[in-house]
Amino acid sequence: MNTLEGKVVALTGAASGIGRCLAIELAEKGSHLAIADVDEQGLQQTLELLPKEAKASLHIVDVSNRERVYSWADEVVKEHGHVDCIINNAGVASSMTIEDISYEDFEWVFDIVFYGVLYGTKAFLPYLKQRPDAHIVNISSVNGFFPFPTNGPYNCAKHAVKALNQTLLQELRHTSVNVTSVHPGGIKTNIVRNSRFAEGTESGEAAQKKIEGFDRMAGTTPEKAASIIIKGMLKNRKRQLVGVDAVIIDLLVRLMPQGFSDLVGLRHDRAVAEN
Ligand SMILES: NC(=O)c1ccc[n+]([C@@H]2O[C@H](COP(=O)([O-])OP(=O)(O)OC[C@H]3O[C@@H](n4cnc5c(N)ncnc54)[C@H](O)[C@@H]3O)[C@@H](O)[C@H]2O)c1
Repeated sequence: MNTLEGKVVALTGAASGIGRCLAIELAEKGSHLAIADVDEQGLQQTLELLPKEAKASLHIVDVSNRERVYSWADEVVKEHGHVDCIINNAGVASSMTIEDISYEDFEWVFDIVFYGVLYGTKAFLPYLKQRPDAHIVNISSVNGFFPFPTNGPYNCAKHAVKALNQTLLQELRHTSVNVTSVHPGGIKTNIVRNSRFAEGTESGEAAQKKIEGFDRMAGTTPEKAASIIIKGMLKNRKRQLVGVDAVIIDLLVRLMPQGFSDLVGLRHDRAVAEN
């Protein structure tokens, strides 16, 4: 996308974290927004944080509900006349091993993190293809190219989002639709706080420890993350890493794929032994 001025951007997960910061910076750059989330109160707060002159519509959308995502795409075009960009950003996580996690919790993560992105992509694509300079931005993660323990469904879903993005890049090469696959490292947001934890630890000490550990480790602010993503969009980058940790992890995975994985596994063993 060469400019964001006057472009209509649809954005999911806009009630918090990276999504809220994307909404604010996009509005500052003159984009017209269609912001969506399941959290109506948070979405309203985002709306209030936008510059006064911003043109924005608010939509309650559960991205794991295929029909609702399709009706949202129609709604956006009805309200704004057309749509130039979809940013599939909404996401959730869990904190349980593959052995412990229930199918229900696995599906909760996978349905939002993967199918939410697939529905958003397919529902908006026909409209995007009608535009001269369009963009699909799908937020994956470092977990999209390297899995971390106790994050199984998220690892699987983010790998699937990366594969979806790479497929789109191949299939949409000769169209007006650009694709950016975004891979953030640790970003200081509510993602872990809103995770599903193993039964009995949800509000317990173990969960609290994980939240505090994430807050210490996450080195990038959501404002900075949004800024990097928007720069990547404007440069039509096919792949955008976000944060120094993401760059380092990317390097380590290339240099020592098995060694790095063993090291992360060892660290997990130690953490389990300490608890
Ligand atoms: N925070 C990180 O360290 C990090 C790292 C890599 C990738 N990401 C990804 O960045 C994206 C944004 O996450 P964040 O860190 O800002 O987290 P966040 O929890 O602050 O924001 C996520 C937003 O998604 C919304 N959401 C959850 N379920 C939804 C659903 N079914 N339908 C619509 N909206 C829903 C939430 O209400 C919330 O507003 C996610 O895709 C996440 O996986 C985050």
